[in-house]
Amino acid sequence: MQHPAPFDLWSGHYKIPWDEPGFSGRMLAEHLNQDHDMASRRTAVIESQVEWIHARACGSRPCRLLDLACGPGLYSNRLAGLGHRCLGIDFGPAAIAYAELHAAPGCEFVLADLRGADFREGHEVAMMIFGEFNVFPPAEIRAILGKVRAALVPGGSLLVEMQTAAAVRDAGLEPPFEFRSEAGVFSAYPHRVKVENAWYEEAATARTVFRVTDEATGRERVYRSTNLAWSEDACRQLFAAAGFPRLEVAGDWPVPDPRLQLVVAR
Ligand SMILES: C[S@@+](CC[C@H](N)C(=O)[O-])C[C@H]1O[C@@H](n2cnc3c(N)ncnc32)[C@H](O)[C@@H]1O
Repeated sequence: MQHPAPFDLWSGHYKIPWDEPGFSGRMLAEHLNQDHDMASRRTAVIESQVEWIHARACGSRPCRLLDLACGPGLYSNRLAGLGHRCLGIDFGPAAIAYAELHAAPGCEFVLADLRGADFREGHEVAMMIFGEFNVFPPAEIRAILGKVRAALVPGGSLLVEMQTAAAVRDAGLEPPFEFRSEAGVFSAYPHRVKVENAWYEEAATARTVFRVTDEATGRERVYRSTNLAWSEDACRQLFAAAGFPRLEVAGDWPVPDPRLQLVVAR
């Protein structure tokens, strides 16, 4: 495998194309699949996390929530059912269409890229759930955090469920593997996928490359996923610079997977 130079890690297509309509439609099936926790968690985990957000972040009283990278709205629609007002933003068209179709009263969904989206203002709690935080390059996540800070009321909090630094590094060191699929997220037709990982110590970044070959045509497409391993120190500096001087890891966040943790920023 040819590795890019570290300075190229965040150029071009550094993440899977969640916003491409066909990909988004196929990914929606994975979000909703109850056999795995791939794009979204299974319902039981989502419900326990929603209960935590309701009780611990909102103090069991109605609040205004900003759900960043909300996917199909599986959190916001449940939180709205508990009396909260939610604004969900995501750039996956099929995910947002599903969220809107199932929108609970008090929920609004916007199809937009977080990098350019208007987060509005007056939110008491903002959240980014399930690891997407690590998939943004430093300058972009810095800008997103600055916008979140401006969109929160004084004393508001931000919940970021991020991949631990160790988990990102371990994923980058995983050996390559291959699989065949009749139909899946990368193609609606029979195809093979070669998965290759790399870990860039100096950039604290892992990259996964998916080489997808359609069986009928032999055509190959390449997708990438790039993940930054935020150390505790780097994280503190990043959040403090964006106006969140207080950070803590929520020890009682109900997460069945130790590769993720919930950081609460105030
Ligand atoms: C792992 S999924 C999590 C979805 C949701 N938070 C959940 O747990 O059900 C990551 C989500 O981030 C969204 N996303 C990634 N980059 C984005 C961007 N730049 N702007 C808006 N949404 C983005 C994807 O479309 C996808 O829905």
